[in-house]
Amino acid sequence: MPSQSATNLTQTHYLIATSEREVLSGHRGIVVWMTGLSGAGKSSIAVGLDQFLNQQRQRSFILDGDNLRSGLCADLSFSDKDRHENIRRAGEVAKLMAEAGLVVICALISPFAADRHMVRESCEKSSVPFMEIFINAPLEVCEHRDPKHLYQRARAGTISGFTGIDSPYEAPIKPELELRTDLNTLGECIHQLAICILEKTKLNPST
Ligand code: ADX
Repeated sequence: MPSQSATNLTQTHYLIATSEREVLSGHRGIVVWMTGLSGAGKSSIAVGLDQFLNQQRQRSFILDGDNLRSGLCADLSFSDKDRHENIRRAGEVAKLMAEAGLVVICALISPFAADRHMVRESCEKSSVPFMEIFINAPLEVCEHRDPKHLYQRARAGTISGFTGIDSPYEAPIKPELELRTDLNTLGECIHQLAICILEKTKLNPST
């Protein structure tokens, strides 16, 4: 949380309801929150899913940890406190974008269960559907893939506080969906996730 909170605020109530925006989109908005180790496949699934949804004429957008950290979250480190703030910001933006009627695909390590729970609660409080997706591959597999050579550097001690090496990762206990990227192909994972999302983003036939 920011060190000093603002006071004397008055909420502005909008004239257009989320449901009206969703009618324009032709589908519901939702936050699809992918969590998992670096190298588990979050970003690869995100870009494939985004493309699939676009082909289905669903309006989606990706919030990717690496990308956010070069803009909105550029001032944040990988300390536990800054990771918490990183997730809080990403979660708030995701919620707003879902309220605008988008399928918001979030791909962040988000290693702490309490932080993911905070985003879920914030979404639920605003009646925004939220799905937690565990992108799961064993640490050994992620380390072997090491697409950015970061595990190598963490093992060598040139990066400290790296998730899975010397910083914890708390796996989800009850995610809406778990995708084992070491046992299934990228295409299979995207397909499985897409089916779940299309089911959840259907507009009520009466609207
Ligand atoms: S989170 O823990 O705060 O959710 P986030 O998803 O934004 O992390 O960023 C993770 C990305 O930052 C990784 O994919 C990796 O490319 C990069 N990175 C750099 N340093 C670290 C580190 N110490 N731990 C984890 N990821 C790191």
